[in-house]
Amino acid sequence: MVDTDLIDRKATGQAAGDLRHTREPDDRDVLVDIQDLCTYFYTPEGVVHALGGVDLRIGRGRTLGLVGESGCGKTVLALTILRLIPEPPGKIVRGKVLFEGTDLLSLDQTGIREIRGNKISMIFQEPMTSLNPVFTIGFQIEEVLMLHQSHRAPTRKQARELAAELLDMVGIPYPGRRIDDYPHQLSGGMCQRVMIAMALACRPSLMIADEPTTALDVTTQAQILALMGELKEELNTSILLVTHDLGVVAQSCEDVAVMYTGNVVEHAGVEDIFSRPLHPYTRGLMRSIPTVEARRRGEQLHAIPGNVPTLRDMPKGCTFHNRCDEVMDICRRERPPMFRPHPDHCVRCWRYANG
Ligand SMILES: Nc1ncnc2c1ncn2[C@@H]1O[C@H](COP(=O)(O)OP(=O)(O)OP(=O)(O)O)[C@@H](O)[C@H]1O
Ligand code: SF4
Ligand SMILES: [Mg+2]
Repeated sequence: MVDTDLIDRKATGQAAGDLRHTREPDDRDVLVDIQDLCTYFYTPEGVVHALGGVDLRIGRGRTLGLVGESGCGKTVLALTILRLIPEPPGKIVRGKVLFEGTDLLSLDQTGIREIRGNKISMIFQEPMTSLNPVFTIGFQIEEVLMLHQSHRAPTRKQARELAAELLDMVGIPYPGRRIDDYPHQLSGGMCQRVMIAMALACRPSLMIADEPTTALDVTTQAQILALMGELKEELNTSILLVTHDLGVVAQSCEDVAVMYTGNVVEHAGVEDIFSRPLHPYTRGLMRSIPTVEARRRGEQLHAIPGNVPTLRDMPKGCTFHNRCDEVMDICRRERPPMFRPHPDHCVRCWRYANG
C-alpha cells in the first residue's frame, strides 16, 4: 500500500503548493499526440531500440510526468519530440509527433527551429552545462528574446527590460542587478530559475523539463517545482516532466506515463496511478518508494528483481516477462498491445486483455 500523503509531504517540503487537478484530458484538449514513435541508435555493438512505438498524448495546460528506470528512453523521447536526436548514430525511424495538429517530424529544419524556443522549450538537468559561462545571464535571456520573438522585434533595450521582468517572475531577487551576473555567480537553484526564465521567454505552449530538479536540494527542488506549476497556470503551458522521482510526480503532475524498455507501459491520471497501479512494473516502482511506516515496521525496501534487458537485444513477448511475478505463457510469446481497462487508464499487459 502506497502512502501517497507521505509522498506528497516528501516531495513538497514547505514551499510547493498543491498543483494537481482531478479533470482528465479529452480529445479537444490534446496538445501533443505522439503516435507509434520509434527512435533507434545504430551502434557498432548493434541497434539500440531506444523508442519502440510510443503512443502518448499530452493535454493542453497539463503536466505529464514521465517516469521509469534509468535507460528506459525518457530523454530520447524528449529529444525526439524536439528533433534533437544526434544523427548518426540515432535515427527517428517512424511515427508521428502531432503538435497542434502539425507533424513535427515532417517539418524542414527552418520549420522545426521556429517551433523550438517559440512554441516548445526545454529545460535540462544541469543548468550549468546549458548556460554559457562567458556571457551574463541577462545577455543570454535577451538573445533568446531577440532570436525567437522577431515578430515583436524588441530592441536590445526592450529585450533587457523583458529579461529583467522574467528574472523577477522566476523569483530572482534584485533582478536589475543580477541581470549582469555570470552563471558562476549564481547558485545551482538560481541557475535553474534562469533556465526556466529562458524557457518561458517566448511563452511556449509546451515546456519539456528533463530531470529539472534532480541536482538540487529538497527545498530548492520544491520551490522550483512550485514555480513551474504557478507559471504553468499563468501561461496555460503544458509540461512534460521527466523524472525518476515518484514523489515529484505525486506532487506536480496531473497525468503519468510509465516507460519501460523504450515504450509506455501505463498511462493514467495521477490519482489513478497511485491508487490503482495496474502494470506489474508500475506496482514494483510503487513498492520501492521508501516510507517511514515501512521503516518503522522494519521492512526491507522492495527492489524489482532482475535487470532491465538491454535495448539491443530485447526478449520476445512482453519485455518485462523475465522480472514479472504474474507472468503467463502468452507473455513469453507475444508483445502485449495497449489495453484500456478503465476510461483514461491504459496499460500494456496481457492481464487486462479481457477488460
Ligand atoms: N547517442 C546515443 N548513442 C547510442 N545509444 C544511445 C544514445 N543516446 C541514448 N542511447 C540509448 O538509448 C537508451 C535510452 O536512453 P535515455 O537516455 O533516453 O534513458 P533515460 O530513461 O533518460 O535514462 P536516465 O533516467 O538515466 O536519464 C539507452 O539504452 C541509451 O544507452
Ligand atoms: S504482459 Fe505478462 S509478463 Fe508482461 S507485465 Fe503483464 S503479466 Fe507481466
Ligand atoms: Mg535521461
